[in-house]
Amino acid sequence: MRKHFFSGIQPSGRLHIGNYFGAIKQWVALQDSYEPVFGIVDFHGMTARYDPKDMPVRVLDAAASYLAAGLDPERSIIMLQSLVLEHLELAWILNCITPMGRLSRIPTFKDKVRQNPDNVNMGLFGYPVLMAADILLYKSEIVPVGEDQVPHLEFTREMARRFNSIFGETFQEPAEVLSSGARIVGTDGVNKMSKSLDNCIYLDDTDEEISRKLATAVTDPARKRRSDPGDPEVCNLYAYHRIFSTPEEIAHCAEGCRTAGIGCVDCKKIVAAHIQEAVAPIRERRTELMAQPSEVRDILRAGADRARPIAQETMREVRDKVGTTLD
Ligand code: TYM
Repeated sequence: MRKHFFSGIQPSGRLHIGNYFGAIKQWVALQDSYEPVFGIVDFHGMTARYDPKDMPVRVLDAAASYLAAGLDPERSIIMLQSLVLEHLELAWILNCITPMGRLSRIPTFKDKVRQNPDNVNMGLFGYPVLMAADILLYKSEIVPVGEDQVPHLEFTREMARRFNSIFGETFQEPAEVLSSGARIVGTDGVNKMSKSLDNCIYLDDTDEEISRKLATAVTDPARKRRSDPGDPEVCNLYAYHRIFSTPEEIAHCAEGCRTAGIGCVDCKKIVAAHIQEAVAPIRERRTELMAQPSEVRDILRAGADRARPIAQETMREVRDKVGTTLD
């Protein structure tokens, strides 16, 4: 029997190439060796203010993007988190053994407080606990994610250890699996590509939009003219080359940049072609899927029906350990 693991994405907007190259692409590759659970984590999505009317649309959008990117509902379990309530039950049990001080030191919490000082809610504070529950519920050994999630995985391992030491051996410590695209910088050249910043190349962007976004993307700030030599190591575009281009192209661009033999415009064209090639089939398939919303929603329901028994089995063991049984 193939083992399970859980990974997921918040339905907080359109998916971008950071989500794809940081997470989904690895997920696609792992579908043969595991029976993974890929969640659309709508409970996590509630920690920021949102319009309830938008939530079903965002969920559909994320599900269509999962499928378009190559997740296969036969080999993987593609589900909506809020349809499997065991996630909340385990999160509550973990809440009761989580020191508040530990949670307040998690960098993503500090960032969110800085970004939204007027909406610091309990859900946001306990966000990593719910994420630990997602992961431990399926006894995940690995969790393929982007680099920004590593502090959450460290916290999850701590929670597994803490639970085991209080209630007896139950969970193993999951390891993060990072890809070469684990930290895709946004087109601003500074921040991580992020739905909450205007610096994304989206999985449904057209070829023209991709070219336009790259044309204005920040490169080596010291290279002001075509004739100035540049430093690829400080250039955001070069970071993209490292992920998307062939070894020959990477060498050609690095050398060309240092000697001013190649300009940023030509360099950007090479990256644009690679990103367009990766995004076009996803965009096309996604458009087809968005035209069949009820089929896509059925996949999420069927996925939840497959995930639930796995979650329930873990919870039977957990309830027994923590004493919430009448027997
Ligand atoms: P989220 O929705 O912010 O992002 C989903 C996945 O995409 C990765 N990612 C990136 N990778 C590389 N470069 C980027 N610029 C980039 N932006 C996003 C993220 O690392 C992530 O893998 N807390 C999670 C959702 C979650 C989860 C889980 C993940 C809830 N429960 C259990 C794994 C296991 C989050 O907010 O991801």
